[in-house]
Amino acid sequence: MKVFNIASIPGDGVGKEVVPAAQRVLKAVSDVHGGLSFRFTEFPYSCEYYLEHGEMMPDDGLEQLKEFDSIFLGAVGNSKLVPDHISLWGLLIKIRREFEQVINIRPAKYLQGIKSPLANPKDFDLLVVRENSEGEYSSIGGRIFRDEDEIAIQNAVFSRKGAERAMRFAFELAAKRKKHVTSATKSNGIVYSMPFWDEVFENTAKDYPDITADSQHIDALSAFFVTRPEKLDVIVASNLFGDILTDIGAAIMGSIGVAPAANINVNGKYPSMFEPVHGSAPDIIGKGIANPIGQIWTAKMMLDHFGEEELGARLLDVIEDVLKSGYLTPDIGGSSTTDDVTEEIIKRVRTI
Ligand code: NAI
Ligand code: MG
Repeated sequence: MKVFNIASIPGDGVGKEVVPAAQRVLKAVSDVHGGLSFRFTEFPYSCEYYLEHGEMMPDDGLEQLKEFDSIFLGAVGNSKLVPDHISLWGLLIKIRREFEQVINIRPAKYLQGIKSPLANPKDFDLLVVRENSEGEYSSIGGRIFRDEDEIAIQNAVFSRKGAERAMRFAFELAAKRKKHVTSATKSNGIVYSMPFWDEVFENTAKDYPDITADSQHIDALSAFFVTRPEKLDVIVASNLFGDILTDIGAAIMGSIGVAPAANINVNGKYPSMFEPVHGSAPDIIGKGIANPIGQIWTAKMMLDHFGEEELGARLLDVIEDVLKSGYLTPDIGGSSTTDDVTEEIIKRVRTI
């Protein structure tokens, strides 16, 4: 029996509703498989925890989380209790940084049953690999002078190691898919970092002769996400470009409530963290109508990460089937509850 020890952090808002739902699905998956099990240990780190303890997690929080095979997170944030920058930096971003989760993966796929805002959506299925540790999101820079003389300087940091690591990750993923990698660049406008990025990409691509590679400027590529997403396979992007592209990816799927994500630690020193793209959705807390698909698809990405790709693929098939059958929460135009959707997924998982 393979046992996976998972730290579960439901967090705030609908995180507390969709994480237990996804855990129930994983329980059904393990029952069906028979040879593996998931052992969840729940951590209460959240904005409520902050109000009680004055911090988002205890001093030894990371020490405790470090021991797990992975972290399964819902959402963090309740700006009525705690300012967002404190809750996010005190938990989510702290884990991403300290656990060297240098790659962020976000898929976007045409799901039958959900209305995409695209007029004639084709069968798109793409994956954005976002460099998650450096690039444009650096803390190097500063502000000087005041009023009309004020100047702000923000330096981007691109290392050969960081860029190449993300690119190799993208090529490895493409090898298992449609064998194409697109690099997001802007070397026509950004004269140092982006030509450097292109050069690293060209060199890295040489190691993967079976995979076709191309570069697109980020502005054109953003438009392609809307006009012909079905032509894309794996996209590798810097931190900022990846951030923006993945919001377009979630948008063309039809709801942020279905979009999954993974923060990957590639050196094996620390656990990776799996969390949907959406936040705590304060406007629908407690109504029982949060879409659980984002969290359940995130669980599928965790299965992939554990090497259970076959099982992950089956789970995604079940999710699509259930959507096609019309089990839709209000964010995607239906009237099903979180439980309706979850129970139907569990019922169908039990038949695979
Ligand atoms: P949000 O993603 O929580 O909500 C945006 C809109 O999408 C809302 O209308 C919400 O009802 C809807 N939505 C989100 N998830 C849904 C789901 N599963 N089912 C149905 N509808 C869903 O983003 P917002 O409102 O900007 O942020 C709310 C809080 O969440 C803030 O405190 C923010 O800092 C935090 N946040 C946390 C994230 C994380 O933990 N990774 C990511 C984004 C925001
Ligand atoms: Mg974003």
